[in-house]
Amino acid sequence: MRDGGNTMIKKEIVVNGVPKRLVVNGEDTLAQVLRSNLKLTGTKVGCSEGQCGACTVLVDGKVTRSCAAKMKRVTDGAQVTTIEGIGTPDNLHPLQMAWMAHGGAQCGFCSPGFIMSAKGLLDTNPNPSRDDVREWFNKNRNACRCTGYKQLVDATMDAAKVLRGEMSMDELAFKIPEDGRIWGTKYPRPSAIAKVTGTCDYGADLGLKLPEETLQLALVQAKVSHALIKSIDTSEAGLMPGVHKIVTHKDIKGKNRITGLITFPSNKGDGWDRPILCDEKVFQYGDAIAIVCADTMSHAKAAAEKVKVELEELPAYMSAPAAMAEDAIEIHPGTPNIYFEQRIAKGEETAPIFDKADVVVENDYYVGRQPHMPIEPDVGFAYVNDDGKLVIHSKSIGLHLHLYMIAPGLGVEPENLVMVQNPAGGTFGYKFSPTMEALVGAAALATGRPVYLGYNYFQQQTYTGKRSPFFMNVRMAANKDGKLLGMETDWSVDHGPYSEFGDLLTLRGAQFIGSGYDIANIRGMGRTVCTNHSWGSAFRAYGSPQSEFASEVLMDELAEKLGMDPLELRYKNAYRKGSTTPTGQDPEVYSIPDLIDTLRPKYEAAMKKAKADSTDDVKRGVGISLGVYGSGLDGPDTAEVDAELNADGTVSIFTTWHDHGQGADMGAMATAHEALLPLGIAPDKIRLYLNDTSICPNGGPAGGSRSQVVVGQGIKAACNMLLEGMKKGSGFRTYDEMVAENIPTKYRGSWTAPANACDENGQGKPFACYMYGMFMAEVAVDTKTGDTTVEKMTLIGDIGKIANKLVVDGQMYGGIAQGIGLALTEDFEDIQKHSSMRGAGFPYIKRIPDNMELHYIESERPDGPFGASGVGELPLTCPHAAIINGIYNACGVRITKLPALPEKVLAGLK
Ligand code: FES
Ligand code: FES
Repeated sequence: MRDGGNTMIKKEIVVNGVPKRLVVNGEDTLAQVLRSNLKLTGTKVGCSEGQCGACTVLVDGKVTRSCAAKMKRVTDGAQVTTIEGIGTPDNLHPLQMAWMAHGGAQCGFCSPGFIMSAKGLLDTNPNPSRDDVREWFNKNRNACRCTGYKQLVDATMDAAKVLRGEMSMDELAFKIPEDGRIWGTKYPRPSAIAKVTGTCDYGADLGLKLPEETLQLALVQAKVSHALIKSIDTSEAGLMPGVHKIVTHKDIKGKNRITGLITFPSNKGDGWDRPILCDEKVFQYGDAIAIVCADTMSHAKAAAEKVKVELEELPAYMSAPAAMAEDAIEIHPGTPNIYFEQRIAKGEETAPIFDKADVVVENDYYVGRQPHMPIEPDVGFAYVNDDGKLVIHSKSIGLHLHLYMIAPGLGVEPENLVMVQNPAGGTFGYKFSPTMEALVGAAALATGRPVYLGYNYFQQQTYTGKRSPFFMNVRMAANKDGKLLGMETDWSVDHGPYSEFGDLLTLRGAQFIGSGYDIANIRGMGRTVCTNHSWGSAFRAYGSPQSEFASEVLMDELAEKLGMDPLELRYKNAYRKGSTTPTGQDPEVYSIPDLIDTLRPKYEAAMKKAKADSTDDVKRGVGISLGVYGSGLDGPDTAEVDAELNADGTVSIFTTWHDHGQGADMGAMATAHEALLPLGIAPDKIRLYLNDTSICPNGGPAGGSRSQVVVGQGIKAACNMLLEGMKKGSGFRTYDEMVAENIPTKYRGSWTAPANACDENGQGKPFACYMYGMFMAEVAVDTKTGDTTVEKMTLIGDIGKIANKLVVDGQMYGGIAQGIGLALTEDFEDIQKHSSMRGAGFPYIKRIPDNMELHYIESERPDGPFGASGVGELPLTCPHAAIINGIYNACGVRITKLPALPEKVLAGLK
């Protein structure tokens, strides 16, 4: 029996051709029944609100979001087809093969739903146009956060060709080139086959397959943003059905704090600011106060409603300016709300330069709280293993980092804590922060039982970190020829209540405002501000989308004032030999002028086209921007990797190259294969053991596009050591020969970036490798509604040598799509309104142009493995500034505070 009474029903339906008699609760959804009762976990559940299409199946041939289909409404005899019913790893459906061949599965969480939706289309329209496919995915609300959609349309078109007999499966499948080399090819990522067949088990799928004694967790969370806790009463809740235990701060044996790992000594906080379970105060909406551990999820949730928390509300400071006000109280008593300051001082004092300059421009800018919006909401579980160690499985992309951040809070010795990453349905950086790791850890320790916690989408939005808003003022001085002479900057970072890496983020303002240009003299100051909005976590391109938005829009303002073309102003000032970065570093390559040269003819053609195609009702324009980001963590960033020769001649690679969904497995495979080329080993003879601290040395977290460079170099080092050990004359020893000669078969390689962290003036050589890109946006502004459509995006990028073309293209398309969202729709300012995907402005396929053009200039990186730099951050460094500059070019409205919602553009037009 459930809330709302007993609604048990019997249903006879046919699932993947097999008749099934089901006895279920009529209120349960088809998704729940497929997943929980039938264990068909190929059907994924993302939003549970009919907004993402991850749960799409066919019911009597009709595309159906199974999370919204109640069992009582499914008719007897209905034919239900799920991803498991159309193909298997040994016998792929053409759509599954096409998804692999086009890199359609990045995190792969959306893939089963998309593939089923596409099947529904091709069953009824075997010869669709690209627009038909886009219309279909839009109508059926199939959402993807990773790919930018283009590859999904490509895949559908090719699968349709196969189904029409115009192409063979063999033509579609990737073939290893004759020289046996996969570096730089379109080799599909090793995990693709599991992702497209629905056989990849993500956290929620694993959760359903845990032992019967597993306890289901529900959180008691704050519904206010700042308060003192007077009391927590669990007495009534503890008596509710199925409740095993209610965990509060009193049950936590350690410090009950997650350390924010202060990066710089001048930070005025100590980092111990984030409670695992709130004890004295609530610092933000959603803060966890108690955990109900029960036999079922519905029992846990029902009991959580009965926990009584008495609060005394305090003023909530929901932005940096509010928390910086004179009369604002300290959010963490004893630590000022402005807890870190970062100066930048490069070259000479700027005041006299500004006094004498021919032209000075200045403006204020704001880039807001972009939500990550992975399709898979946060999920994790924990247990104590047979060695007595606490094991935590989650979406963590920084396993060793998180281990040390949470162990003291839980009261566990680090050596007794094991962290494992589950396949992740997208993170884009939010999992650089621990989210629920300490919560499941605390519950497992308090109960001695396996425990499982899955967030719904509201919790994903409200209780995981967000991009930190920057409030910026930037001034630039130039001579009349457009040569930049100096820059002055001021930036305030709203980092929410928790300090984790807030100081590091603030440093990004010094490193990336004005980056890409030779500016000899810079003065500025940034600050990290504690507020009561959602905590700041890493988000792809970390700090650069904020920093570069300001300088890239201001460059256009400067061009206008000078009467120069914005492209030529950028060309004039781009890094060339003798230039230095804002931190005073010599760039490792000087490809920006080449990027601009490549873009120029496209830009001129686009300008002409925009002018010709503009009407009174629809104004068209073209905008450009320059994006730059470092590949690595600041300074001597290190990764360790083990390479082992196995008895069967295969080679195993052990490290942490965490997967957000970007393609960690492919990066590791391509790099190891390239390093082991002398062995002539086939790629499928390389075994990857990634992301389990019990077996992997520390490769470091997956952030700041460091993995391909730093972990990649670690892989190369380990493989080289193994090859050295195996070497015998002009050939290599076998495993048996190694053992017979007592030569080790396992080697630990490590690599440290030749870099040094920035000093108190923001000066240093923080990154060994950078990524560079020129973005161009072609936009159309509806002058009646103010709505902006991006009709085409172009990116000319230099990320060094390309390790895998499918992964790299996929990163670029997907990052650009997130930039379009950042420019036009996405926000998490209003906690209630923005708590769903649609509410927060998730870009569906109609928002993202099918027309995206990518070009690469592959300048070999001296410090990158086989010449590669990082990848993932580049496409989100600055595409949004190109769009905003395009809006100005189209209709003369200069947006300086994102997102450029139609009402803002309309107000500008009026
Ligand atoms: S639409 Fe069903 S999970 Fe999102
Ligand atoms: S591949 Fe589509 S959401 Fe990740």
